[in-house]
Amino acid sequence: MEFPYEIREYVEELAAKQDGLQKAAERLSERYRAESGSGSPLVNGSRDILAYAAVRMPATFGAAAKALELTLKHFGGEIGSVLDVGAGTGAASLAAQFMTGCGDITCLEREQGMIDLGRELSRRCGADFRWIKRDISSGLERRADMVISAYCLNEMTADRRRLALEQLWSAADKLLVLIEPGTPEGFSQIKQARELLTGLGGSIAAPCPNIGECPLTEGDWCHFTARIARGRLHKRLKGGDAPYEDEKFGFIAVSRKPCEPCAARILRHPRIEAGRITLRLCTAQGVEERTVTRKDPRFKAARKSGSGEVF
Ligand SMILES: C[S@@+](CC[C@H](N)C(=O)[O-])C[C@H]1O[C@@H](n2cnc3c(N)ncnc32)[C@H](O)[C@@H]1O
Repeated sequence: MEFPYEIREYVEELAAKQDGLQKAAERLSERYRAESGSGSPLVNGSRDILAYAAVRMPATFGAAAKALELTLKHFGGEIGSVLDVGAGTGAASLAAQFMTGCGDITCLEREQGMIDLGRELSRRCGADFRWIKRDISSGLERRADMVISAYCLNEMTADRRRLALEQLWSAADKLLVLIEPGTPEGFSQIKQARELLTGLGGSIAAPCPNIGECPLTEGDWCHFTARIARGRLHKRLKGGDAPYEDEKFGFIAVSRKPCEPCAARILRHPRIEAGRITLRLCTAQGVEERTVTRKDPRFKAARKSGSGEVF
């Protein structure tokens, strides 16, 4: 799924008139590394917001689109409305519109600067989102078929996060999708959300084959990758010439109606040796290493498979 070129173009146009953007992009990465979970805003002022749109938004869009692609394969229902909580500049909402075709999308965000830029960016690619300024610490009165929250829980303190999860779940009439960075910390937040939401009666639509307790033990984690084409501005601000970046993310999609889980999901890059491929799989029975040899009819499928995919 390609990041909308209308957004890239407009962000480049704004960046040409804004000095200090490279420093702002560096500070932003540093703050996300060091201050996640502190509860304080990580993006301050219009320069930071533009830096966010330039260096992070294409990646968060790609992660949300991939998470939704993997979710919708297992969730059969119609999505008639979407609520994007902690919408930022609208990356997850754009992904939701592309992936579900839903036209009724509400973006909820506490920072006015994010809303202003997000409204303009979405308008430029023809999306007509409803933008609402709200800090969910003071309640969440809206509801929708699908609630999505991307890279937002990790900005909250652990106590706030638990409350926020309960609010997000009560607001979701059919499906709640949470996306977080593909780091051990991000995974730990997803795992905690998984426990809480299944305890509240939710059924996992994706990515887990296992509907009981998560079988991954301390020090192990699952993550997914979205490959994103890099534009000129991204290369200038982040350095390097690579034509793409790989955004690693974790996610969980929890449904109100029971979903059929996938058979097994590949946890790591398959290990390919002469005549044999070893896959580390998450299955309904737990984590296992499965070796597929050339004689096995699934050998071709195993050779083409990748981390995060269903096997
Ligand atoms: C890292 S940004 C992610 C933005 C967007 N979801 C994306 O994926 O690109 C996190 C956003 O969550 C918002 N946020 C954090 N806590 C919030 C709260 N309590 N209520 C509303 N928005 C919040 C922040 O203002 C910020 O714009």
